Amino acid sequence: MRIDIVTLFPDLCDSFLDTSILGRARKRGLFDAHCHQIRDYTANKQRQTDDYPYGGGPGMVLYAQPIADCLRAVQAQCAQAGYPEPHIVFLTAAGRPYTEADAKRLTRYDCLTLVCGHYEGIDERVIEAFADEELSIGDYVLTGGELAALAVADSVLRLQPGVLAEQQGYEEESYWDDLLEYPQYTRPEVWEDRAVPPVLLTGDHEKIESWRAEQSRARTRARRPDLYERWAGTHPRAVPKWKRGEKAQLVRTDAQLEQAAAVYHAAWQRQRQDLCTPAYLAANSRQVFAAELARDRAAGWAFYLHTTDGMPDALVGVHRPSGEISRLYVLPEMQGRGIGSKLLDFARKKITSDGKTPWLEVLSFFPGAQRLYRRMGFVPTGDARALDSTPNLPGTPAPVLLRFRYAPQA
Ligand code: ADE
Repeated sequence: MRIDIVTLFPDLCDSFLDTSILGRARKRGLFDAHCHQIRDYTANKQRQTDDYPYGGGPGMVLYAQPIADCLRAVQAQCAQAGYPEPHIVFLTAAGRPYTEADAKRLTRYDCLTLVCGHYEGIDERVIEAFADEELSIGDYVLTGGELAALAVADSVLRLQPGVLAEQQGYEEESYWDDLLEYPQYTRPEVWEDRAVPPVLLTGDHEKIESWRAEQSRARTRARRPDLYERWAGTHPRAVPKWKRGEKAQLVRTDAQLEQAAAVYHAAWQRQRQDLCTPAYLAANSRQVFAAELARDRAAGWAFYLHTTDGMPDALVGVHRPSGEISRLYVLPEMQGRGIGSKLLDFARKKITSDGKTPWLEVLSFFPGAQRLYRRMGFVPTGDARALDSTPNLPGTPAPVLLRFRYAPQA
């Protein structure tokens, strides 16, 4: 692959491409890179590259002409060297957001040219004339496009065969795609009283892989719910195995009921914090939840409290006479570990073992929960019930309860 960078700071770009992993790969001829000085293509005596914007406003705007001539020179050099027509990308804060999917896509070009803007912008006409695409590396403004071009170059070049020491794992679509990285550790085993998670020292690769997958999912879910939702939609999974230290226990004592109410309250509050009015959230205190669970228990509901190493972290309610499941809540910090799936499966089995069909209702604005139910064999029945008892913030949709019924595909 050949990369050309069109910039006012070619030395800066060259020195980056000569450093560390990319520097070694460049020396070994694993890619070909050329950085071009826009100023060398100016047509004025002062070698000026920019001017005031038409229409006024702050800052300076890069002339179209030197960038255009520089790009024509790059096109000619690429053709002479036997490369195909370069794919030209302008880096600007107004571009489309750049992602790993773009990095993978850009590796398909044998010849890639990155154009760095500077000052307040680039004359739009040269973008119109030459750009195949315009990319931004994030929702912040840099003083120039160099860091952005180097970020794109780095992320594309690391995918080139041979650039990374261990190629395996970077090439194919994998389980980890679209998830954040799991935490990594190296020596010593204990650093300033912090020990490496014991599973990593077991040498049991299956266990380590499963721990890493869980960490990755939990992190992604907590930090990037947008990525997690997309990932979960394309990765149906079997019910995870119960792990040592995990237990679901029938709520019998008042103390257990208090613990169940605390989990219910914490998870419920987090789920609704951006949807409901503060007054409504405040009115639904832990005491209110404890009273609700006590009342429903007296009316025939069984509640099961899930604990991990003795710490309560999830709850589910089962009404065996009707087949209804409800109050499936997992503490926010324990989500993404498969506890919800396991507890739902556990509750579902209680009902199917009675020969009944399990069903449940879910609020329309919790698509993540709906996806979990679908993955676990529940299908929407089409029944919807409007709820008027949830005072929502202005701008959030009116709550509707959707009904799901257990109907696993054979
Ligand atoms: N130039 C200035 N800010 C930028 C950004 N966020 N991405 C790409 N190019 C830029």
